[in-house]
Amino acid sequence: MRNFQMKRVTLAALTAIFATGLVSISPARAAEAETEMKHVDWTFDGPFGHFDRAQLQRGFKVYQEVCSACHSMNLVAIRTLGQEGGPEFTEAEVKAIAATYTISKDIDENGDVIDRPGKPSDHFPAPFANENAARASNGGALPPDFSVLAKARHGNADYIYSIVTGYEEPPADMTMRTGMHYNTAFHGNQIAMAQPIDDGAVTYDDGTEETLDQYAQDVAAFLYWTAEPKLEARNRTGFKVILFLILFAGLLYFTKKKLWRDVEH
Ligand code: HEC
Repeated sequence: MRNFQMKRVTLAALTAIFATGLVSISPARAAEAETEMKHVDWTFDGPFGHFDRAQLQRGFKVYQEVCSACHSMNLVAIRTLGQEGGPEFTEAEVKAIAATYTISKDIDENGDVIDRPGKPSDHFPAPFANENAARASNGGALPPDFSVLAKARHGNADYIYSIVTGYEEPPADMTMRTGMHYNTAFHGNQIAMAQPIDDGAVTYDDGTEETLDQYAQDVAAFLYWTAEPKLEARNRTGFKVILFLILFAGLLYFTKKKLWRDVEH
């Protein structure tokens, strides 16, 4: 009889622990299940991945003409647009791109800040003077800096693509907070950024289709490059290391065979 009661107590305790566990887990699960990550076959996926130069150049155009109105890229120097393994704009193109920016950081002899055209060595200037100005222009929300965003978010380039293509009408039972937009990929499904781009918004000179889907892929690829500019060099090194290890293992094997050839087992 006592044994039976003990069992009942243990069972009740276990049920209680299990139930509290469920209660504390379920809200987090529900929030995660709402977001949707779309997957794209990127040229830079996998150990042999590389960037598509033309795509990076188009993605930069989308950033420059649309996203840079709100999103800074503080850690990225303009000259990197010409570096190997990136969009590889020519030197003249990089200079011309730099000159389209106004840099206000030099100080004249009177101590006043002066404006001058950008040089390749400058970093991309931020659209807002500071965080408060950025929030004030965006209904209180802060457009995050783009320098490493694509690496900082789960899903990387897929995440950027999913956000840009993730705008939909909110479900009927969802109460939207003021100024928020329904987005299938954003945490909680309410994002302060209105859909930033749509079909035809940016002109491509290389005949690529000017659709929302294409823009989203191109800008996501570009942002992945800004966050991971050494990807190609690293993949090349990785390949060489693996090749070396395979050859070395082969050499060791034959050396061992030769050394032990005359030893009786
Ligand atoms: C009018 C200003 C504005 C423009 C233009 C804009 N954004 Fe945003 N963006 C925002 C704001 C504000 C947020 C923060 C939203 C929030 O926290 O709810 C944001 C957030 C994002 C996020 C989610 C960031 C995170 O923290 O996970 C992504 C991705 C993004 N923007 C990509 C883009 C891309 C790509 C473009 C260009 C095609 C672009 N944005 C253009 C204002 C803008």
